[in-house]
Amino acid sequence: MDSSWPRDFVWGVATSAYQIEGAVREDGRGASIWDTFCAIPETIANGETGDVAADHYHRMPQDVALMRELGIDAYRFSIAWPRIMPDGVGAVNRRGLDFYKRLLERLAEGGIAAYPTLYHWDLPQALQDRFGGWAGRDTAEAFAEYADVVSRELGDGVAGWITLNEPWVSSWLSYGWGSHAPGYRSMELGMQAAHHLLLAHGMAVPVLRSNSPHARVGITLNFSPIEAASSDPNDIAAARAADVNVNLWFLDPLYRGCYNEVLLPELSFAKLRIGDDDMAIIGSKPDFLGVNYYTRFLLRSGPSRHNPLGEYVEQTHAERTSMGWEVYPDGLYDTLRRIHERYAPGDMLITENGAAYADIVDADGRIRDAQRIAYYEAHLAQVRRAMTEGVPVRGYFAWSLLDNFEWTEGYRQRFGLVHVDYETQQRTIKDSGRWYRDAIAASRAATSLAR
Ligand code: FCB
Repeated sequence: MDSSWPRDFVWGVATSAYQIEGAVREDGRGASIWDTFCAIPETIANGETGDVAADHYHRMPQDVALMRELGIDAYRFSIAWPRIMPDGVGAVNRRGLDFYKRLLERLAEGGIAAYPTLYHWDLPQALQDRFGGWAGRDTAEAFAEYADVVSRELGDGVAGWITLNEPWVSSWLSYGWGSHAPGYRSMELGMQAAHHLLLAHGMAVPVLRSNSPHARVGITLNFSPIEAASSDPNDIAAARAADVNVNLWFLDPLYRGCYNEVLLPELSFAKLRIGDDDMAIIGSKPDFLGVNYYTRFLLRSGPSRHNPLGEYVEQTHAERTSMGWEVYPDGLYDTLRRIHERYAPGDMLITENGAAYADIVDADGRIRDAQRIAYYEAHLAQVRRAMTEGVPVRGYFAWSLLDNFEWTEGYRQRFGLVHVDYETQQRTIKDSGRWYRDAIAASRAATSLAR
């Protein structure tokens, strides 16, 4: 790998609460919509749940020690709202806060900067029941209250706050497509949930800035180039609509103060409930944009079970990960260039990038995951390419530190730099983890020589 990275480039790893913590009924945690969703038969591969996950709640010190071994600068994790406020609003659960306080202390001891995400999809079930979750405006107000509590208590130990992770997933995919919790299927609800998530972000930004003045505040969005599967005008139109939906829906209000004029089929903004000041609240610019990138998609027109905008066509000839996702590193470069040119959001962090493969533990205990190393190398090269052309990327967080609960895919998709044996909860650094450690060390050595 090209080792000439800027001296202050932030090297990190990422995780999220529901995917790694387990301990879902401990220390006063309330139920989340993911606990409820996982309990519905046939929803998650093999009927799995996040009940135990990687047991990080009990193994946190060991996991921070692993981070130190990898030599990372920064850790992106998420805070479980139902641990802090079991009812979503009102009473605060000290034991939940204490867990994250202990985590921040450990990270500080190890010289690792903390980048907590406030919302990585585990909404308190109470807010779903009371307000219809993100379909209700009150959930945005509740989020601002939660952001206030958390930043007052934890604000000193944080380098960067991320308000939301991939609101596209927690709105369109969760309320429109029905693929994620809470599993509704209504495009209108998807649009309304997307608006309330943006509003929640906008309301939280000034709160975080005032309670945690030394931290930077950002939001993380997911991006995937979406191309037409053929030259058929219907496919082209479907890909265009899906591109706006996935890649631009959130950027326009955040950086231009309005929604994109290209509408999706069967939707009308007339049906969207927007308060008078909402667009101004949403438009208070974050300090950085978090970019999650994994793959690109080819789309054929016509609704499918999973996507009302069209059907994703598998790239049979392309190299793919075990998620079935094409390995398409150029798409990361294209995405960074496009965002920078169209919106100039300023600093960007790659807050997730990585790959799932069917790892094999060899007889000697080693996991020789050469494909994952190749994936990282190729994608980092594209990040570097965008940077040399002036795109201000300031850091990179590999997804993920550990193998974990991959949502509807359960535990069969392994994204970790560290292997988890779910029977024993034993952790083993994979070859990709060692490679990442060495790449970080090499980039530091190169920059210190250049100094
Ligand atoms: C992203 C999610 C993350 C993880 C990866 C594979 O969409 O933010 O939690 O599941 O995909």
